Amino acid sequence: MRIAVVGTGYVGLVTGTCFAEVGIDVTCIDIDQKKIDNLKQGVLPIYEPGLEEMVLRNSQKERLSFSTDLATSVQGCDVAFIAVGTPPGEDGSADLKYVLAVARAIGQSMTDYTVVVTKSTVPVGTAAKVRNAIKEELEARGADIPFDVASNPEFLKEGAAIDDFLKPDRIVVGVDSQRAEEMMSKLYKPFLMNGHPLIFMDIPSAEMTKYAANAMLATKISFMNDIANLCEIMGADVNMVRRGIGSDARIGNKFIYPGIGYGGSCFPKDVKALIKTADENGYQMEVLKSVETVNEKQKSVLYNKISNYYNGELSGKTFAVWGLSFKPKTDDMREAPSLVIIQKLLEQGAKVKAYDPVAMKEASHTLGDSIEYGKDEYETLIDADALLVVTEWPEFRSPNFAVVSKLLKEKVVFDGRNIYDAKEMEAKGYTYFGIGIKQATVPQQTKATV
Ligand code: UDX
Repeated sequence: MRIAVVGTGYVGLVTGTCFAEVGIDVTCIDIDQKKIDNLKQGVLPIYEPGLEEMVLRNSQKERLSFSTDLATSVQGCDVAFIAVGTPPGEDGSADLKYVLAVARAIGQSMTDYTVVVTKSTVPVGTAAKVRNAIKEELEARGADIPFDVASNPEFLKEGAAIDDFLKPDRIVVGVDSQRAEEMMSKLYKPFLMNGHPLIFMDIPSAEMTKYAANAMLATKISFMNDIANLCEIMGADVNMVRRGIGSDARIGNKFIYPGIGYGGSCFPKDVKALIKTADENGYQMEVLKSVETVNEKQKSVLYNKISNYYNGELSGKTFAVWGLSFKPKTDDMREAPSLVIIQKLLEQGAKVKAYDPVAMKEASHTLGDSIEYGKDEYETLIDADALLVVTEWPEFRSPNFAVVSKLLKEKVVFDGRNIYDAKEMEAKGYTYFGIGIKQATVPQQTKATV
């Protein structure tokens, strides 16, 4: 089999590389010449654990190649994936101009039967638009070439994308022809070893599945954040509550960790887009609107605790920030809660010294020299008034607290991810603030509120 993947962003690159890994002949295409030149040298535009080695290995085996020449690359291929960006427009709806431009380019150059698959997250009805765009281009050049469109949403988590692709919980494919179903079955056969299903459905349902999955997950998080905030007020411990409810199989123990709000490239964008699509079609997604509101508020929760503790007097204070990326194992800073927290601290005249194992370069594009960057997590603590845990990188979970105590001016920790145990921190002499837990030590002059 031979496939083309258009768009070498996060989704396209992981998709193309993982297909090559199982022996399929893959060309990854992008209009960005520099990106393609770099990829040919094994230089990746993103950080994803294990991806660089996999790109190198498959490039060497000549199963994976990179090109800016879409026309030549799609000629004679069995399946062409569209994996370009769908940035949110001003009003929150997904902008389809890149997806449709690629569809047109495919229509202009395809030579044989091809299944054209949308991999980008696109609103219900997009595959129909892709089909029309291709049809128009074929007609314009008087070509009578059969083709099908399909929708194949991705469910990759950044930081675990390779595993998610190679060992998926499920693969969802929307098709409306037998021929396309057979082609997609053949393509995905190597990924079904763990017995998880390849689910075929109609195209609109597949398009909706992606939004429904992300919206449901975002809802779980906002719900738990709401519960966490209430736990604090009522003197309950959300860690206990989480365990208590998570062992009910109907609820499940995943994705119920409270924190400082969800970020990243998917949840915020997809929740907005689904609200917008519904609105355009005369329906109000009331639950999702609240999910968004709660998430926006949650990004300020850690800051509010800090401001409370210092009675609003943050000018001249220095804060050590551990973690900048929106979650561990990625350098992605899109919609990262760290940006909101840091901006609020800086606005109040505080100083920030941050460390992130991989995202500092990416973060510096937004934060510039408004903050200091530590060479490791401990360096950020020197002369800092308090430590803020913002991203739960594994290496922050068990630091040398003797060193932390020595370097910090005062033993105060604001933990936005509940990675430490409140009682243990108290026993070590820390004033510790988590999310949704009874404060082990509440300073006399202040009381933490959400
Ligand atoms: C998500 C989906 O999981 C994936 O299926 C989809 O394809 C793309 O969007 P990703 O954005 O990489 O993946 O991150 P994910 O691990 O899902 O986390 C999203 C956000 O939710 C992060 O900000 C994370 O910190 C937050 N989160 C997650 C919580 O606050 N609590 C949780 O319990 C889980």
